[in-house]
Amino acid sequence: YVLGVDLGTSAVKVSAMDREGTIKAQQSYEYPLSQPEPGYSEQNPQDWLYGTTIAIDRLILRDGIKAEEIKGISYSGQMHGLVLLDENNKVLRPAILWNDTRTTKQCQEIMDKLGDKFIDITGNRALEGFTLPKLLWVKENEPDIWAKAKHFVLPKDYVRLCMTGKIGMDYSDATGTVLLDIKELKWSSLLCKTFDIPESMCPPLMESIDCVGTISDSYSMFSGLSTDTKVFAGGGDNACGAVGAGILQPNMVMSSIGTSGVVLKYEENAQVNYHGQIQYECHAIPNTYYSMGVTLAAGHSLNWFKHKFVSDMSFSDMVEEASKRPIGAHGLLFTPYVVGERTPYADADIRGSFIGIDSIQDRFDFARAIMEGITFSFRDILKIYEENGQDFDTVVAIGGGAKSAFWLQMQADIFNKPVISLTNEQGPGLGAAMLAAVGLGWFKDLQECAKQFVHFGKKYLPNEKNVQCYNQLDELYRQVYGQTKDLSH
Ligand code: XUL
Repeated sequence: YVLGVDLGTSAVKVSAMDREGTIKAQQSYEYPLSQPEPGYSEQNPQDWLYGTTIAIDRLILRDGIKAEEIKGISYSGQMHGLVLLDENNKVLRPAILWNDTRTTKQCQEIMDKLGDKFIDITGNRALEGFTLPKLLWVKENEPDIWAKAKHFVLPKDYVRLCMTGKIGMDYSDATGTVLLDIKELKWSSLLCKTFDIPESMCPPLMESIDCVGTISDSYSMFSGLSTDTKVFAGGGDNACGAVGAGILQPNMVMSSIGTSGVVLKYEENAQVNYHGQIQYECHAIPNTYYSMGVTLAAGHSLNWFKHKFVSDMSFSDMVEEASKRPIGAHGLLFTPYVVGERTPYADADIRGSFIGIDSIQDRFDFARAIMEGITFSFRDILKIYEENGQDFDTVVAIGGGAKSAFWLQMQADIFNKPVISLTNEQGPGLGAAMLAAVGLGWFKDLQECAKQFVHFGKKYLPNEKNVQCYNQLDELYRQVYGQTKDLSH
C-alpha cells in the first residue's frame, strides 16, 4: 500500500491505496481552529501530528492494513501556514494559517519596497495568506519568539519532520511562502537580505516525489508504522489536488469548489505572464508549474446561507429546490465576498452583496443566486487567462461543486467550456498517494500513474441558450465589485 495523508484545515484524512489505485481504507481526524482575534486563524501543530497518528493507527488496528505492507507515505498539506521552530525543532507558537488576514501592513511594505521585482522573483504579489508576511509579522510583534526561531516549515512539513526526523520543504509548497526564486528554484538571497530573514531559517528544498527517508525509530514505536516505510516529500494541497484530478498536461484547468474555491491551470514554464494577477506556483511534477486564482468563500458562502436560513432541510434538497428556479434567480445577483476576496481583487475588506432583491423571490432563489455568484467569481479568474491569451480545452471539476449535476452544468454554461467530473474523486489525498506510488517506482511518472489512479466521468457540454443568458448576467456581476467597494468596512 501507499498512504496519502491529506492535512487539511478542518481535519486530516489518511487513505490507504493499493497498486491498482483502489482505496482500501480511509480514516480521518478533526482538529480545532482558533481565532483569538478578528482576522486571526491559528492551529496547534501538535493537533496535526496527533490526528495523523490516530488516523494511521486506526488504519492499522481497525481496518487491518498491515504496517509492513505500507511501502510509502506522502502528504498533501494546507498551504502557506507558518510553523516556527527553535534550535531543537520545537514549535515556538501556534501556526498562523493560510486564511489568517493579520498581515495587510506587512504585505503593503513588501510591495512598497520591491513592487514588480517581487512578482518577478516569486511569481506572486504579497498577499495576507502567504508565509513571508507572516514571518515579518512575528518579527515585528513577537521579538522574543523571533529571537528563538531557527527554522520555519509549512504544516505538512512539520508532520513529516516528526515522522522522520528530517526537515525539508518541496518546491510546490515553497513557492507559496513567496521567499522562493521561482525561476532559479532556490531560496531568494535578495528577499532574505531585503527583509532580514536569515537564509539558514529556510529548510532544504526537494521535489514532491523525492524520498526524504524512512519512518524514524521513535515514530515507529509511537505509531506502529514500520521503519522500512519510505516517506516522500509531498506537496501543497492545490498541487496534490491537481495531480489527483489528472491536471498533468497543458490545456487542462481544474475548478474546485470547496470551502474556498480554486481555478488552477497547468503551466509548462517558469515564465510568469500574469503580472501577479493570479498565483504562480511550482507543480508537484518536477519542472512544471501551475497558476491559480482563489475565491476565498466559495462553498463557504453557500454553507453560511444554508446554516442560517435553510437549516430545516438537507444540503442536496436545498440544491435540488434551487435548480428549479430560473437562471438569474428572478433577478437576484450575489457576489461571494463574504470574507473578502483574493482573485481578482486581492481585497480583504470587500464584503458580499445581493443585488436585485424582489418580493417574489424565496430562499431557493437566494441559494441559486449564491451558486451562480460563486461560479461567476470563477469566471472572473478564467477571464484573466483569456485576457493573457491563454486557452484551455477542458475543465475538470472537483469538490462540493462537482457533486451536483446541476452545478456541473451551470459551470459548463458559465465557463462556456466542457466540464468533466471524476468518478473516483478523492481530492488532494489521492494526489499525495500518487506521489508516493511514483516515488516508490511503481510507475514511470505521474502521467502513467494517473492512467491507473484517475478516472474521468461524465462530460457536461455548454448549452448555447444558457450561455447567452449567463453572459448577460456576468456583465452585471462584473460591475458589482467597483460599485460596492467603498461601501465595505
Ligand atoms: C492557496 C490557499 C488555499 C490553501 C487551503 O493559496 O491559500 O487553497 O491551500 O489549504
